[in-house]
Amino acid sequence: MGYTEFLSELEFEVLELSPFLQHLQSTFSQGELQRLVLSRHEGDDKELQRVIFRPVLLKGQTVLSALYERKTFDITKNFEISEAVEYLTTKLGTEFKSALLQTQGEEWQISFSKKNKLLQNRTKLKNAAPVAPATAHNREKRRFVEQSRAYLQALGITDASGQVVPAMSRKWKQINKFVEILAKAIRETGLQERQEVHVADFGSGKAYLTFAVHDYLQQLGISAQVTGVELRPALVDLCNETAAKLALTGLNFEQGDVQHFQARGVNVMIALHACDTATDYAIHMGIRTGAEIIMCSPCCHKQIRPQLQSPAVLSPLLQHGIHLGQEAEMLTDGIRALLLEAHGYDTQVFEFISLEHTSKNKMILAQKRSKAKDNRVVLEQIQALKAFYGITDHCLEQLLAESLPSNI
Ligand SMILES: C[S@@+](CC[C@H](N)C(=O)[O-])C[C@H]1O[C@@H](n2cnc3c(N)ncnc32)[C@H](O)[C@@H]1O
Repeated sequence: MGYTEFLSELEFEVLELSPFLQHLQSTFSQGELQRLVLSRHEGDDKELQRVIFRPVLLKGQTVLSALYERKTFDITKNFEISEAVEYLTTKLGTEFKSALLQTQGEEWQISFSKKNKLLQNRTKLKNAAPVAPATAHNREKRRFVEQSRAYLQALGITDASGQVVPAMSRKWKQINKFVEILAKAIRETGLQERQEVHVADFGSGKAYLTFAVHDYLQQLGISAQVTGVELRPALVDLCNETAAKLALTGLNFEQGDVQHFQARGVNVMIALHACDTATDYAIHMGIRTGAEIIMCSPCCHKQIRPQLQSPAVLSPLLQHGIHLGQEAEMLTDGIRALLLEAHGYDTQVFEFISLEHTSKNKMILAQKRSKAKDNRVVLEQIQALKAFYGITDHCLEQLLAESLPSNI
């Protein structure tokens, strides 16, 4: 069937840590350890977010290299396996509240509840790709998505041996870039500290990015509740089947139109390449539910173009349809970004991934401000732009005007 098969044990309370640490030691010595991720950090170093241990070859000997992922800069330190076990014995349950042990054929997640009860969830992966031998230290590179993740194989990004399928290499780069951007936003908005994070992905399509965000949050030790919303029923069924086969909890897909979807307490709103004004509906829903992060990559800008009445001086430029299209796109997205600014979000518009990888490469990333800011100037700028170009209707502006109090 092409799917890796999974057998998952239900999360239950266990009494002690030692079986987990013994498994770390035995899989390390057998060359079956892939990595160990410590997350939900609650120690004194407020900069520290995760620690990732990986086997590396150092002067002919395999050791564990620990990457301390910190807000401003990362630190790397090497451990003998016995030193690592000692470190984990003192830090797990005290400074780190979650750990994920990824080995050949198995994932073992442990977490500590608020009352510091030790819970675990073990998932066996049948037919999993073999773990690559430890490589030299200087080849280590910080990556946000591990090529060995099971969902990549289930979605056809990687093959049975864990290699990226050549035809999917652009998608693979896009997934990595997307997770990198999301990871930074999650850190900056403080969502990293939450126990549970709700995500809505509008126009999820084949859901490469939906699976990626779910996986990334789970690896941070956050309970991820991710919903993909998609018009096409066949894709919804396929994605739900894949999530069930991978025994993924908290990931589901719903058939529906973004326009009619009822949002319920979303922290992260994603709409990547959702067509035309579907992006406006998604942004609007994100603002309305108070999402901390709104991330979209707009596609096909149809609403503004027929309204444009540019000044005569621009007509030699805009006589070319491609320029008119670019102008309409810039205005549509520029006004979206300004509306987000006016409604409490710090907003950036940038190239998501180079054009070599996809032609749909613009990202609007909005992060909710912790403090309110005077928005009168921004609202005036929007009106001035609309007047200059003769724009009467902008979908997002209309949605906001209909749903939010008039003083915003
Ligand atoms: C180009 S695909 C992008 C898929 C995915 N977000 C990605 O970037 O890989 C756009 C998807 O949005 C869906 N879509 C378009 N308009 C929609 C709407 N109004 N409501 C829900 N889904 C929509 C389409 O069916 C399609 O699967």
